[in-house]
Amino acid sequence: FNRTSFPHGFVFGTASAAYQYEGAAREGGKGPSIWDTFTHKYPEKIKDHSNADVTVDEYHRYKEDIGIMKYMNLDAYRFSIAWSRVLPKGKLSAGVNKEGINYYNNLINELLANGLQPYVTLFHWDVPQALEDEYGGLLSPHIVDDFRDYAELCFKEFGDRVKHWITLNEPSTVSMNGYAVGSHAPGRCSDWLKMNCTGGDSGTEPYLSSHYQLLSHAAAANLYKTKYQTSQKGIIGITLNTDWFLPASEKITDRDAARRALDFRFGWYMDPITFGDYPKSMRSLVGNRLPKFSKEETRQLKGSFDFLGLNHYATVYAGHAPHLRGPRPTLLTDPLIYVTNQRDGRVLCPYAASNWLCVYPRGLRQLLLYIKKQYNSPVIYITESGYDELNDPTLSLEESMIDTYRVDYFYRYLYYLQMAIRDGVNVKGYFVWSLLDNMEWSAGYTVRFGLVFVDYKDGLKRYLKLSAQWFKNFLNKS
Ligand code: GCO
Repeated sequence: FNRTSFPHGFVFGTASAAYQYEGAAREGGKGPSIWDTFTHKYPEKIKDHSNADVTVDEYHRYKEDIGIMKYMNLDAYRFSIAWSRVLPKGKLSAGVNKEGINYYNNLINELLANGLQPYVTLFHWDVPQALEDEYGGLLSPHIVDDFRDYAELCFKEFGDRVKHWITLNEPSTVSMNGYAVGSHAPGRCSDWLKMNCTGGDSGTEPYLSSHYQLLSHAAAANLYKTKYQTSQKGIIGITLNTDWFLPASEKITDRDAARRALDFRFGWYMDPITFGDYPKSMRSLVGNRLPKFSKEETRQLKGSFDFLGLNHYATVYAGHAPHLRGPRPTLLTDPLIYVTNQRDGRVLCPYAASNWLCVYPRGLRQLLLYIKKQYNSPVIYITESGYDELNDPTLSLEESMIDTYRVDYFYRYLYYLQMAIRDGVNVKGYFVWSLLDNMEWSAGYTVRFGLVFVDYKDGLKRYLKLSAQWFKNFLNKS
């Protein structure tokens, strides 16, 4: 079992995000993003009170890291552009930062020179702080025009070499964690949830922020398709994330609940971009709090992607929870579901370090078959999939290299992926989260997702774990 088990031309890469990798937070003319503000203003919201001012310092070390990718026989690298590095004030009219453009040009050129294809995410959660201050960021329709302008700048500057664009990464996580739970920037939620919110309303804002993310996606994707695609010959998509949901029992109510869980996590975006509107289950449960699309918006959304980027890690059981219908509805209660990892006294799957990462490789195949059937067989790239361990300071360097659980994770997820491809699912690539250990949002540096170990205590030195060596062999072309 190795890369030849996959169709010819299948792409293997690793994925990253600007905030988690770049560091150089105040260098090179970069403006602040809401993640810079959030981590500094509310350090208690990050498990180890850390931030990504430096993180793994990719801004200065990208050449070394690309060298590792090449050594590992990887074909591609997915990274995100920090909006406020190229537009420090968020708006095109407020000025382009040439140093930021240069950085991404250098990164892209270095990748190509080493035989690696760039897959570029335009938005991986780092809204420019200036736009948050001016009009509330993702809660305002103004974001749509500013995002379109920013995207156009990127198409113009980088589109001669970038052939795979991803508009947004995981809008559902942004809305859930940023506007319902408050654990991610900008930390908004309803205070009665007692989650130390920075203001907000968990019953409406998650839906609004998703609505404007969807319209931003559609605006940028349509612009690319009408103005740039013919000459630049690239493709554009969006990255959505979902767990696979199994019913908590055979009862019809639990089967419906599992389906509803998929609607609220995935159909929330996949339905609008495929069919032009939100899922029926959301319309009926959220009612007037769910914004409506105009005819023109529906037209813009429908078919606004060449491929689906799918981030998938875990599986969970979902069951019907009618008692959640209460006087103060929120995104957390609206779907009327509870989740569990047990059924008939048996635990579904073992966990990685993160308490949401239940390892269930069969779930990937089942999810892919569901998407193929439900959404007219879209072209899919798995844009993230991976496994984390605790950052355990008692381990020696030598011990930290032995990540056999991660090897097991990839072997089995890739095996089920290959089965799904045999079943006719149109998957064209797989990106590991992640090449390096890095800053895991609200978990900070307490977990490690990398194929490559980063020594935070010794100059951020990189060391290849067993999983990196395993991948190198798996991807060997000769
Ligand atoms: C995401 C994320 C990554 C995470 C990874 C592990 O898109 O959720 O893109 O930034 O670090 O998923 O949780």
